[in-house]
Amino acid sequence: MRFGSAPLWLAVLQIIPFPTVSAKSPPLLRPRDYDSRDYYALHLTPDVSPKTVALQLGLTHEGVIGELSDHHLFSTPTSKEDVVAIHIDGLRRKRRSVGSGGIVKRDLSDGILFAEKQRPKKLVKRVPPPAARREAQGFDPAAITGNTGVVELQSIMQRLDIRDPIFHEQWHLFNPIERHHDVNVTGLWLEGITGENTTVAIVDDGLDMDSQDLAANYFAAGSYDFNDHAPQPKPRLSDDRHGTRCAGEIAAVRNNVCGVGVAYDAKVAGIRMLSKPISDADEAIALNYAYHENQIYSCSWGPPDDGQAMDAPGILIKRAMVKGVQEGRNGKGSIFVFASGNGATYEDNCNFDGYTNSIYSITIGAIDRNGNHPYYSEQCSANMAVTYSSGSGDAIHTTDIGPNQCFNGHGGTSAAAPLAAGIFALVLSVRPGLTWRDMQYLALETAVPINEEDPDWKQTAIGKMFNHKYGYGKVDAWAIVHAAKDHKLVKPQAWYNSPIVIVNAAIPEGTQGLQTQIKVTAEEARNANLGRLEHVTVTMNAAHSQRGDMSVDLISPKGIVSHIATTRKPDTSKNGYKDWTFMSVKHWGEEATGTWTIIIKDTVVNGQTGSLTDWSLTLWGEAIDADKAKPLPLPGGDGDKNLGTDPIHTTTAQASTTELPSMTSTANPSKVTENPSDHADRPVNEKPGSAATSTQLGTGTTTGTTTATPTSTAAPGGPEAEAEESNFLPSFFPTFGVSAKTQVWIYGAFVVIILFVGVLATYLSIQKKRAKKQGMDYEFEALNNEDDLESGAAGAGGKASAGGRRKARDLYDAFGASDDEEDILSEKEYDDDEGSYDDDEALGIDEGPRVGDRAKLLGRDNY
Ligand SMILES: *[C@@H]1O[C@H](CO)[C@@H](O)[C@H](O)[C@H]1NC(C)=O
Ligand SMILES: *[C@@H]1O[C@H](CO)[C@@H](O)[C@H](O)[C@H]1NC(C)=O
Repeated sequence: MRFGSAPLWLAVLQIIPFPTVSAKSPPLLRPRDYDSRDYYALHLTPDVSPKTVALQLGLTHEGVIGELSDHHLFSTPTSKEDVVAIHIDGLRRKRRSVGSGGIVKRDLSDGILFAEKQRPKKLVKRVPPPAARREAQGFDPAAITGNTGVVELQSIMQRLDIRDPIFHEQWHLFNPIERHHDVNVTGLWLEGITGENTTVAIVDDGLDMDSQDLAANYFAAGSYDFNDHAPQPKPRLSDDRHGTRCAGEIAAVRNNVCGVGVAYDAKVAGIRMLSKPISDADEAIALNYAYHENQIYSCSWGPPDDGQAMDAPGILIKRAMVKGVQEGRNGKGSIFVFASGNGATYEDNCNFDGYTNSIYSITIGAIDRNGNHPYYSEQCSANMAVTYSSGSGDAIHTTDIGPNQCFNGHGGTSAAAPLAAGIFALVLSVRPGLTWRDMQYLALETAVPINEEDPDWKQTAIGKMFNHKYGYGKVDAWAIVHAAKDHKLVKPQAWYNSPIVIVNAAIPEGTQGLQTQIKVTAEEARNANLGRLEHVTVTMNAAHSQRGDMSVDLISPKGIVSHIATTRKPDTSKNGYKDWTFMSVKHWGEEATGTWTIIIKDTVVNGQTGSLTDWSLTLWGEAIDADKAKPLPLPGGDGDKNLGTDPIHTTTAQASTTELPSMTSTANPSKVTENPSDHADRPVNEKPGSAATSTQLGTGTTTGTTTATPTSTAAPGGPEAEAEESNFLPSFFPTFGVSAKTQVWIYGAFVVIILFVGVLATYLSIQKKRAKKQGMDYEFEALNNEDDLESGAAGAGGKASAGGRRKARDLYDAFGASDDEEDILSEKEYDDDEGSYDDDEALGIDEGPRVGDRAKLLGRDNY
């Protein structure tokens, strides 16, 4: 074929559909090669073509990052450097040297909103299950006669024509021995509700689509292998069994193989991503994969449950989750279900896990065959509900990999989450139009409290019972599905962001704690279009020489107490809480208005101390006026939380004197009296006691309430910026001895003049360039600097220069290079997600397993 005919030939190729992909499934991704290539995620402005970026930076364009529009993945041969950062630094330097105070030309860096070198996370595979597992409590129905439970079981099997050989062992579906310790689903099956027309994606280590117990319900078009880049998520490693077992719990076929799934006519897709390292970009694609067809994402994994980790998903993953709830399922919102975690023995708490404490996920903990709290299941104020899993000598009996293999030892919260996901599939089969938030309403409204003698059960403002271990109780399949039938759809989401309260006060050791408040007025709630409350999040910065010593209570205006952070003995990190967001579902249904209090304590009296830097509150709920509701801004971008409000300096931070329920550590409720009285009034750190009269720094309120409405609006760097004094500009700008308002006018006039000159000069320059060259889709400054080209193209071992200072894995922000004001502001914009990585730094982990498989605890922990 002649070279000249290439365009036609290419065009023809593009028209021919890729043979193995059905019309519905997303385009195949280019395989990743982490050994020899580096990957960069870039968020571009819509007018910038990825081709241009690739050309200018010497990168290969790998494609769009899933459903995140304008987010692209690029690759280049491996290098220690962050070649994109170096390149942008170069452009910046050049721009500055060209003319300080002069005309700023638009260049490539203006078209890059965000850039991040990808650091694939290695998932350490779990230890294999122990050889000698405890004997499962299966039984032969024929051997037990006269047991009414068994008689009922046999009747159900007969009426539903269930011939699956291990169905009688599946006590979580129908428990003939410990009556009513099951998910109460058989009544639904008898009504014909079996999950038809629903699909659950198992985000895990694969799914054996060839198992005779899964094949008929396998949904190929929603499946993908992100580890080995194949269309089918076939388990390949010896311990790639977990995803298949989870899939069996949901949709094992009613046939003559093993047992049945809780929604045995639902479809299951497999998204394989836990078997090898995966980048944030690929994880973001995975969590939105086929997101109209995959309605529910069942996720039985998270950061390590070791009582030390404090890890949140990276910015791309956070964005994918927001995208999922906004646009997935044709706009109704993807349902993300996460296992609460298996780290309770290590005093771990699911509010230290950025997946489970996300408002976009439904967090599910475990109870065992006797309805007891298994020692592994984590507690937290973000727990929505619990369902059955291993403990009390038995586990979940389900499908295993192989054509006709069953497993009787599936457990941990890993096994609870899929069961809930399957029940949510039953819900969607009767009410496909529910939004992601309706599902959360239904989950909490219909959950059934268990072990009601547990002292942590407390009534919430709307009369529901909540317990940090059990959330609102155990999921009852019959109850939630029937409630869904006539559930009134909720109005869109609204939220209120408080200003940041800057506290800067020491936390006294002992039981006293440091208390600070935010007052939300009825008017503020109304202006935010915020009606009844749903989630409450608290974002805070606190320094401490031993993070695990700290604990935090959130107290609502109605006096409802959420233990948003608990002490964790293994957590010896010196990093404190860095922009960490804690979440509570305990305030669901309350009113937003009134005084919200946090009390931060350091109950471990050991000479390790800390201080509260600042905090803010976000109240999420239902819009008052649906027509005024707006979509959530993407995390980390313009319009993200708190932009536009000024921080306030509190003077109310004080040693708490209120008698409040003491915080207990996660694993040992018996240790309630953790704060020995001989420590209570130990004169440690008297400072905060006097903080009640601490100096007032801010312009706004004197009470730490949100009534602060300073005259000037903060520059777009927003909330993270240290609050300035009555001067609206940094102190090195002259104030002319006039009020802030007048300063605005004076500086404003300067800005207008400079802008005018700038625009004029830019216009002239563009006109000149147009004359020179045409046809480029974007007006970039031509790259004629050899250095730029070189570092941009490969950079391998080349010029270390400025970029050498950077650690390769550093999150790069396109503007964060240095000293001028614009840089500083933009840098702030990305502080959030940088914070989410800080723990790796603390632990010295470079490519370590930030995301560990919960199931890795299966072998040693679940019995
Ligand atoms: C369990 O299901 C039965 C119907 O099979 C129903 O009568 C009962 O109320 C359900 N339990 C709860 C707690 O709703
Ligand atoms: C499933 O979808 C099909 C086609 O839309 C419809 O005919 C059928 O009634 C649905 N099944 C259920 C249980 O809703």
